Amino acid sequence: MTGSVTAAERWERRVQLGAHPVLYPLVRSLGALGPVLRLPGLGVLVSEASLVRCVLMDGERFVKNGASASGGLWTPVVGPRALVNMDGKDHRELRRKLADLFTPGSVAAMVEPARERFLSRVEHGLDNGARVDLVDCVKELAGGVISRLLGVLDDAPGRLPDRDLFNLGSSISSLVRLGRPSLTPRQAAKGRAAVELLAGPARAAFHGNDPATFPGRLRSLGMTEEEALGIISAFVMVGTETLVSFVPRLVALLSDTGRISALAADRSGLPAAVNEALRYTVPSPMMLRNVVVDGAIGAKAVRTGDRILLSTVHAAKSLGGFDPDQPTPPQARQLWFGAGPHFCIGMPLAMAEINAALDVLLDRYLKKPWTIPSRKVSTGVLIPGYQKLELANGS
Ligand code: HEM
Repeated sequence: MTGSVTAAERWERRVQLGAHPVLYPLVRSLGALGPVLRLPGLGVLVSEASLVRCVLMDGERFVKNGASASGGLWTPVVGPRALVNMDGKDHRELRRKLADLFTPGSVAAMVEPARERFLSRVEHGLDNGARVDLVDCVKELAGGVISRLLGVLDDAPGRLPDRDLFNLGSSISSLVRLGRPSLTPRQAAKGRAAVELLAGPARAAFHGNDPATFPGRLRSLGMTEEEALGIISAFVMVGTETLVSFVPRLVALLSDTGRISALAADRSGLPAAVNEALRYTVPSPMMLRNVVVDGAIGAKAVRTGDRILLSTVHAAKSLGGFDPDQPTPPQARQLWFGAGPHFCIGMPLAMAEINAALDVLLDRYLKKPWTIPSRKVSTGVLIPGYQKLELANGS
């Protein structure tokens, strides 16, 4: 491997510590003590990949919509049928209806207009010798995709700018904080107000009944209006922060390990590099479940009502340093997108956005190499990430 792996590791650690200065080191050191630990007052911490997967796969014994498993947090904001707050038969049926939601063609159509704007912003900035903040560019990319999720075309009158759409999505997802078991009436009202702003155009597109729009497509798959709005809200709030966390960290990792130049010239290693960066960064670091049937996780007994803290971050990162040349151990494969009934339904869209952004940056690098002259990690956030990551023409 070329370049300095330690610089990459150092930056990734700063990113994690910026978000969770106490919790991150704690979760990593507790994970090293054993695969399943009962933490009085907090729950049962599961830190080993195959056990995390077992819990995720078993939707009968471990549920997401329990009293302290976070799914229900969303119900006052997005209604009861938003996937993230559903379990069992209802959830399975809704997921089944959505099985064909994303085809390669539909995903490409949703990302392409936002990709073009991303490209022109990066090119324009660097051509003019300016520094380009990649975090802000990815926020706009995510906002552009939100407009498609709402069924709003680029030239629609009154269409909100991409950045405002991102901010609206972010204002909903940022209501979640660690240790916040439910929303106060004020927080729920704030979330509902943001959802209502987004809901206006989505309802119009739903009634427009055009399957070329995302809400129209949900209608053609048999969703009621309320189901479609719940799903769209879930997509907006779950999909934006993870992406804005991941893309800049991916680019930083590839740059810090000296891989950009080789990947720009030969893209065949890209899928492995992206996959390994997902493993190494774990944009969704922790998942929660509640036990509804007494039993065991590994050798540890668990009881009905226990809260299960699934430490994806330890399960994935403890497998080793960032190395795209090594295959992912089978027990960890795609664990960063979850597993089982709640597996990330937005993965095809996420991958399309990630690949679109990366391709633009690698194409630009081939034309004229760029560097990362400055960056700043985010502090006090739920999802670790960079607050700013600037690109500038290399010398
Ligand atoms: C790098 C980007 C992403 C990562 C790492 C990620 C990760 C995850 C994970 C770990 C889960 C499972 C949570 C659990 O089981 O508790 C999940 C679920 C979900 N994701 Fe993603 N996600 C990403 C991007 C997206 C995008 C772009 C969208 C949509 C626009 C999206 C929509 C969803 C939805 C709706 C669910 C809930 C599915 C259900 O409960 O049935 N995600 N995601």
